[in-house]
Amino acid sequence: MSFEIREITTEDRKKVLEIIEVEWGIPIIVKDRTLNPENLPGFIVYDGENIAGLVTYNLENNECEIVTMNSFRRNMGIGTALIKKVKNTAKAEGCIRLWLITTNDNVDAIRFYQTRKFRMTAIHRDAIDKSRKIKPRIPDTGCYGIPLHDEVEMEILL
Ligand SMILES: CC(C)(COP(=O)(O)OP(=O)(O)OC[C@H]1O[C@@H](n2cnc3c(N)ncnc32)[C@H](O)[C@@H]1OP(=O)(O)O)[C@@H](O)C(=O)NCCC(=O)NCCS
Repeated sequence: MSFEIREITTEDRKKVLEIIEVEWGIPIIVKDRTLNPENLPGFIVYDGENIAGLVTYNLENNECEIVTMNSFRRNMGIGTALIKKVKNTAKAEGCIRLWLITTNDNVDAIRFYQTRKFRMTAIHRDAIDKSRKIKPRIPDTGCYGIPLHDEVEMEILL
């Protein structure tokens, strides 16, 4: 498959926010923070006119947080290519750490990140239960019927 990766531009913003709203819900709540993806930088994978992948990130305090990550054509290298882009950007920006939060049910993503050298650094117990109080659309059950309770923090030191 041939695809093209581009930085998110102003023209992409409306589509990007629509995707994030569908996939994650806006605002995004992670580690007791509410993040508005309105101005987050990121990369889009285009397959012709169609969006095949999207990553957004947040640069703060010499760290780079992956805020959202989606591949819409799985197992073709899109997720890996997006990680590489963000990692290179984070290094170029002088970051010392690339990190993210995923959820306890998301065993496929946890596997994906671990095979891409991310390490688990913390489990934030009950974090999703707390977020659900602010954002009731968060379901009780996630992937594979796993009860959804905790945040899993993962990182790569750059
Ligand atoms: C996690 C996620 C981003 C991975 O994206 P992806 O595009 O499927 O990732 P890749 O294709 O790069 O890698 C997935 C697997 O496909 C394999 N693969 C890559 N290119 C391939 C190809 N051309 N042919 C066959 N297999 C291939 C990879 O080796 C990898 O397997 P591995 O983990 O055993 O090494 C995707 O599953 C996703 O969007 N999940 C839902 C949203 C989500 O959970 N996001 C993360 C939340 S923090």
